[in-house]
Amino acid sequence: MPSFISGVICALGLSSGVAAVAYGDSVSKSAVEKQFSQEFPEGYSILKHYGGNGPYSERRSYGISRDPPASCAVDQVIMIKRHGERFPSASMGLLIEASLAKIYGTGISKWEGDLSFLDDWTYYVPDSCWYGAETYSGPYAGLLDGYQHGVDYRDRYGSLWNGESIVPMFSSGYSRVINTARKFGEGFFGYNYSTNAALNIISESASMGANSLTPTCDTDNDTTTCDNLPTTFPQFKIAAARLNSQNAGLNLTESDVYNLMSMASYELNARAFSDWINVFTQDEWVSFGYINDLSYYYCSGPGDKNMAAVGAVYVNASLSLLNQGPEKAGPLIFNFAHDTDITPIVSALGVLVPDEDLPLDRIPFGNPYSTGDIVPQGGHLTIERLSCNATAMSKKGTYVRLVLNEAVVPFNECQSGPGYSCPLSNYTSILNKNLPNYISTCSVPKSYPQYLDFWWNYNTTTRLNFQRGPIACQEGDAMS
Ligand SMILES: *[C@@H]1O[C@H](CO)[C@@H](O)[C@H](O)[C@H]1NC(C)=O
Ligand SMILES: *[C@@H]1O[C@H](CO)[C@@H](O)[C@H](O)[C@H]1NC(C)=O
Ligand SMILES: *[C@@H]1O[C@H](CO)[C@@H](O)[C@H](O)[C@H]1NC(C)=O
Ligand SMILES: *[C@@H]1O[C@H](CO)[C@@H](O)[C@H](O)[C@H]1NC(C)=O
Ligand SMILES: *[C@@H]1O[C@H](CO)[C@@H](O)[C@H](O)[C@H]1NC(C)=O
Ligand SMILES: *[C@@H]1O[C@H](CO)[C@@H](O)[C@H](O)[C@H]1NC(C)=O
Ligand SMILES: *[C@@H]1O[C@H](CO)[C@@H](O)[C@H](O)[C@H]1NC(C)=O
Repeated sequence: MPSFISGVICALGLSSGVAAVAYGDSVSKSAVEKQFSQEFPEGYSILKHYGGNGPYSERRSYGISRDPPASCAVDQVIMIKRHGERFPSASMGLLIEASLAKIYGTGISKWEGDLSFLDDWTYYVPDSCWYGAETYSGPYAGLLDGYQHGVDYRDRYGSLWNGESIVPMFSSGYSRVINTARKFGEGFFGYNYSTNAALNIISESASMGANSLTPTCDTDNDTTTCDNLPTTFPQFKIAAARLNSQNAGLNLTESDVYNLMSMASYELNARAFSDWINVFTQDEWVSFGYINDLSYYYCSGPGDKNMAAVGAVYVNASLSLLNQGPEKAGPLIFNFAHDTDITPIVSALGVLVPDEDLPLDRIPFGNPYSTGDIVPQGGHLTIERLSCNATAMSKKGTYVRLVLNEAVVPFNECQSGPGYSCPLSNYTSILNKNLPNYISTCSVPKSYPQYLDFWWNYNTTTRLNFQRGPIACQEGDAMS
């Protein structure tokens, strides 16, 4: 190396650390440290293999930067978020309790092998009232997720709020969803939440028709596949045999394994650590995850022929917001609903659709429909409108990016903009051409609202920002 180059490096203060250049025998420790690790320890993470049950994790990205490219600034954000981490549903709770009763019913007093921790373990659901509610303890607590997400989005998008105006937020009328919206709002608006956010609660009733965050569709009378999905995979036989062999008298079945794996994944929502997670092997978790993928795909995703029409309600209305822009439609449109309201939207957008229907008897490894990357608890789809200056590859103008769980998902064949974004005009024309019609596909009665209207006709009162009074045992539908 010519000496003037090393002189420049010294002048820049780079002579120590990884940029150091080693000569001959004087190889310093820093010179052999790798700039990039060659390990991918998260190539397998349990967080990606329990379907939508357990704690949130970001989507595994395609490598595209989360921040907008230097030539662009976000000027409008339309988000829909699933509620935060929760306890199992009441119906899942019954299955879990049955499998636990079977275990404790053996009368085994000293547990061996993978279950040896059971001597000290207790079930994490305080009582059945908590089934379905968001969790409040542990590092993955659901209520914490909502607040943390609000704080994160204040950092990322706070400049879009002028610090004065009243910003509407929209939650479907379900207790845990409302609680998430409120926590998010407290995180985002901080000390201004009580005065500057206006929570609008949109009833989940089917009679809301298309004016809903939770539109329904009852015309799919062929639910045969959805109703007959596998709940066990061959790997579960190995798990049952292993546990039974370690503890004489135990007689767990594959179904018990499914129930116990479900219980394990929800345990993390309430506790920092789950011994139960470690009871099952990676291969068993891979199968468990796929069983959950099948359920989302066939019951509320692209494997149900009506779901794209359901999701088209939100996508179509968001086209109006994007084309009106922040001046007319507002810069921040935060929405809160359920996992099965987000999967139809992803279907309507036409992204992450596998080339073929998912097989029921084997795992098509590498398929794009991986629930842990689509709707984990707290999962969210964020549509960013970008205002971009001209670059060497693109014109000055307005572009759109889809961000799913904090990773950019390029829009189909349209990625000609900065940061693999799509020009808003192309995005609009492609979707206008492709979106199915919700009203006709789902035979929505004429007496029900025919389009989504609340993003423009909202209330600016803060009356619903806080819970006034107790939350009832297993409260679901709720308006305040
Ligand atoms: C676009 O260009 C204008 C004028 O030079 C500049 O003020 C603005 O900051 C630029 N926007 C971005 C996102 O770089
Ligand atoms: C937001 O909260 C801060 C701190 O309480 C306060 O100084 C400010 O006036 C509030 N802004 C509005 C618009 O209420
Ligand atoms: C579903 O509805 C269609 C149209 O009304 C009808 O032809 C078909 O037989 C129905 N299928 C089932 C399984 O009910
Ligand atoms: C285990 O349970 C199965 C039914 O699930 C039953 O057929 C079998 O006899 C049981 N075995 C023992 C050893 O209890
Ligand atoms: C699409 O959105 C526009 C504007 O919000 C609305 O007028 C129209 O009825 C919607 N179309 C459908 C099929 O929902
Ligand atoms: C966008 O639309 C324009 C005009 O219709 C067309 O020429 C162009 O090929 C489209 N670009 C993409 C990436 O779809
Ligand atoms: C606004 O408040 C009125 C009166 O409570 C209610 O009827 C209406 O549904 C609310 N609108 C929204 C978008 O929540």
